[in-house]
Amino acid sequence: MVHVNDNYLKLPGSYLFSEISRRVSAYQAAHPEAKLIRLGIGDVTQPLPPAVIRALHEAVDEQACAKTFKGYGPEQGYSFLIDAIREHDFLPRGIELSGDEIFISDGAKCDVANFQEILGGDSVVAVTDPVYPVYVDSNVMAGRAGELGPDGRWSRLVYLPCTAENNFIPALPEKRPDVLYLCFPNNPTGTTLKYDELARFVEYAREKECLILFDAAYEAFIQEDDVPHSIYEIEGAREVAVEFRSFSKTAGFTGLRCAFVVVPKEVRARDAQNTLRALNPLWNRRQTTKYNGCPYIVQKAAAAVYTKEGQAQIRAAIDGYMENAALIRTGLAESGLQVYGGVNAPYIWLKTPGDMDSWTFFESLLTRLGLVGTPGAGFGPSGEGYFRLTAFGGRENTMEAMRRIREAGHWSVWCGK
Ligand code: MLT
Repeated sequence: MVHVNDNYLKLPGSYLFSEISRRVSAYQAAHPEAKLIRLGIGDVTQPLPPAVIRALHEAVDEQACAKTFKGYGPEQGYSFLIDAIREHDFLPRGIELSGDEIFISDGAKCDVANFQEILGGDSVVAVTDPVYPVYVDSNVMAGRAGELGPDGRWSRLVYLPCTAENNFIPALPEKRPDVLYLCFPNNPTGTTLKYDELARFVEYAREKECLILFDAAYEAFIQEDDVPHSIYEIEGAREVAVEFRSFSKTAGFTGLRCAFVVVPKEVRARDAQNTLRALNPLWNRRQTTKYNGCPYIVQKAAAAVYTKEGQAQIRAAIDGYMENAALIRTGLAESGLQVYGGVNAPYIWLKTPGDMDSWTFFESLLTRLGLVGTPGAGFGPSGEGYFRLTAFGGRENTMEAMRRIREAGHWSVWCGK
């Protein structure tokens, strides 16, 4: 008889956003008249920028002609896109990368989930808590997480709590992990680390021989000068960090799909004989075996993001989302709620009032005001007592959501407390 991968059976019933979608659909079916506003999953609402659309059309036309048709492309991505990334995203920040240190893909979610495959099965993994669930779930699937305890913690994972008490700045791990996932600007809390705060982690990783998997999917939303956009702005990070980037939120590619991973040649880990091995060739081996590359037309579209026009257009969309974030911050604060994040990131993290647990707050917001958000507990045990709203909703929806909150008055009225 075939056996399933038993690790999958350890996973909680469904992925967080599927569970939210299930609950919202059930509510909508029972209340078809309810006009729901969805500020739950961080999905963009602005259409693709005109420069991207034009590049897509041109690339499609190329595919119609034998002379310009493209079949399989390089698994690592086309050099026209890799070079644009090096020149625009990294060089201006003093970071020199070679072309074969960048791997184009169809999404940061798959990249962060897949990367663990090239690491030892017994590696000890540390995550900040709350955390983007993909880091945890992919390690559960690989059998690295141990067992899920009644407190919502996996027995083999190291948790670094990020709460209002520590200003959402994780402490260095007390127990040395092999791998450390960091996401800044953070999903879900919308908070950031300053240069010196991130430098502490790089220093720690160098001293303890850890690998940092740095998710920088939200770097384009940074507004303040003292927040690093790339971990490679920190000295020594090339030896210990892999960075994940995405066009999803930056340029509206959540449906189109394009992202990339930076694996500097210096990043190494030990094999069973204790010999240091570079991760770059291992990731290359993994990608060339399991992946045939992001579609040509999508990579052409991504390259158009780096044109002058494309840059101005994505900046306008990002500015619009950050204006939504400011509206949400103000609206919630006026309702007497404690608000975090939303200054350098498109997520607003709020403390659920009156000691309410985050799923009860979710139900309250849904049933009383018709608003959908994400319960903090879905992101990990330290997310309990918090709630996330996204700034990616349209302007009208965001304003309507805040109008409903304002008209409902102080939270104690509409929370039924
Ligand atoms: C989120 O809402 O956390 C994001 O949309 C998840 C993702 O990017 O996969």
